[in-house]
Amino acid sequence: MNFLEEKIIKDGTVLNNDILRVDSFINQQIDCNIMKKISKDFAMHFKNLKINKVVTIESSGISPALLTAIELNVPLVIFKKQQSKILNSNFYQTSVKSFTKDSTYDLVVSKDFIKDDDNILIIDDFLANGEAVSGAIRLIKNTKASISGIGILIEKSFQPGRKKLEDQGFNIYSIARIESLENNTIKFSEK
Ligand code: G4P
Repeated sequence: MNFLEEKIIKDGTVLNNDILRVDSFINQQIDCNIMKKISKDFAMHFKNLKINKVVTIESSGISPALLTAIELNVPLVIFKKQQSKILNSNFYQTSVKSFTKDSTYDLVVSKDFIKDDDNILIIDDFLANGEAVSGAIRLIKNTKASISGIGILIEKSFQPGRKKLEDQGFNIYSIARIESLENNTIKFSEK
């Protein structure tokens, strides 16, 4: 088990067969030492890809993405969620459906912050159905920027997100990959 899997076993809680609660170290309280290790792990994994920008989706992606951007010495761009459509020609905008939360939101970013020559690393906390990351990809695809990597803290491999993204050829690295949460037991995928 790696450091994040050990932490999940120690402090994560299985809510049901689909949802893992990690409020005490990722989603509400943040364990800064774990975040530091996560960012160093991402930076090491993606270090040869000439990343010049880290992108994340608010809100829980921000802390690991910020620390990773610091490690890589590049800017961080946060894609914002908004409930209502405020059409503005200076923004790229797309609609994202969250199956976990049974809600839809608009993801937006100013056109000023994603440029054709960017080489982007996307960081997010969970990969479930892959809708949030797919929304981020759609926004970036308004430009000619490259997406060289996708870094995820916790992937639920029993949900379709990874396959959806891999089928489009993306380079995904998840630090913890959960195969199952059934019977109140956290089972990790063999790497
Ligand atoms: P997807 O992006 O992979 O399709 O996931 P989905 O829409 O189903 O997930 C919606 C929200 O629920 C996301 O947070 C995601 O991080 C979170 N989520 C998904 N599965 C789990 C889980 O097992 N445990 C926890 N704790 N969260 C989960 P969000 O709405 O973007 O929230 P936040 O980033 O503002 O915290």
